[in-house]
Amino acid sequence: MAIAVQALTGLQYLSLLVTAGLLLCRVTVARGRDAAQALGSVAAVRRTRVLASAAALTSVALMVAAAIDVAGWSRWTAGIIPQQLAAAVLVGTGSLIVVVAGGARRPVPTLAGALLGLLGPALTGHSVSVGPRPLMLVVDVGHLLAGAFWTGGLIGTVAVIAALRSDGTAEEAVVVIRRFSSAALVSVLVLAVSGGLMTVLILDAPAALVTTGWGRALLLKLSVVGVAVGLAAWNRTRLLPAIATADAPWERLLRIMRREAVLLLGVLVVTGVLVNLSPHESPPGGALGNGQSPVGAQETMPIAASGVGGPGEPGAPRMAP
Ligand code: HEM
Repeated sequence: MAIAVQALTGLQYLSLLVTAGLLLCRVTVARGRDAAQALGSVAAVRRTRVLASAAALTSVALMVAAAIDVAGWSRWTAGIIPQQLAAAVLVGTGSLIVVVAGGARRPVPTLAGALLGLLGPALTGHSVSVGPRPLMLVVDVGHLLAGAFWTGGLIGTVAVIAALRSDGTAEEAVVVIRRFSSAALVSVLVLAVSGGLMTVLILDAPAALVTTGWGRALLLKLSVVGVAVGLAAWNRTRLLPAIATADAPWERLLRIMRREAVLLLGVLVVTGVLVNLSPHESPPGGALGNGQSPVGAQETMPIAASGVGGPGEPGAPRMAP
């Protein structure tokens, strides 16, 4: 069950962040007529709708999985956790707006739906089980928004530039890549500050970075993020200055951007594992004080089931306290 929940969480992040990021890209970066057309194509609209539907399905599946963990298969409806229900309602409503509003062709209402859905994950997990809660919530929403822009915005920008290049409208491609590059730099800074703050608030002690599964997963995530930042920095400092020239290195630029996008999708998969692990040390020995539960059970048990928090308490939805 734990692996299924981690996979579902990763899938939810992929679908939510890419949907919101693509639409943010449409509104902020791909504003010109040709660029907007590239992101508003029938195929792009269809993909946005599929992604939004996947986000809604995964949030419902996560709610049901947590409820089964709390109350068992036969009485799972009694185990539904309010925070997870609220998250599923937000993601479901947001996804419905994206599907009905018509994808990137009507970016303003569609983006509103995508941003509503993006709030869902902030209602569950460590963002509500760790204090101070208002600060954690604001920081988490900022982290989700910046992560969405970098990941989905990058995918959208690659699609727009590839389309503009094949149509021979290189001037607009130059404008789009410059706009994206500046906004992505801000996103990376927001991610680093918000992610660093969440780390400080969640961790009991710096040593837990290496002694807990949560800490090791975070270090893995940071290594992948580091490589992606390195690729982005290479593009920005080496290739971007040359794009206005006659023999602009478009192919190399696009190749590096595609690799960066794959790494960011990997970051989201690792995050799906991270948020379901416990940042707390397991007690030493082979059994807990009551001698009934195996050590490390808190690592994978839902908060409500492990007795750390109850269904009425925040933080229960994910698989770890
Ligand atoms: C720059 C360095 C980064 C740091 C230090 C960092 C750190 C963190 C931490 C500590 C959490 C909370 C984990 C938990 O609740 O157990 C988190 C969550 C998350 N991070 Fe990052 N992160 C970084 C970059 C990124 C990037 C680049 C992305 C996107 C590609 C990303 C996407 C996410 C997502 C989707 C969540 C889950 C938020 C939620 O469910 O509320 N992070 N990050």
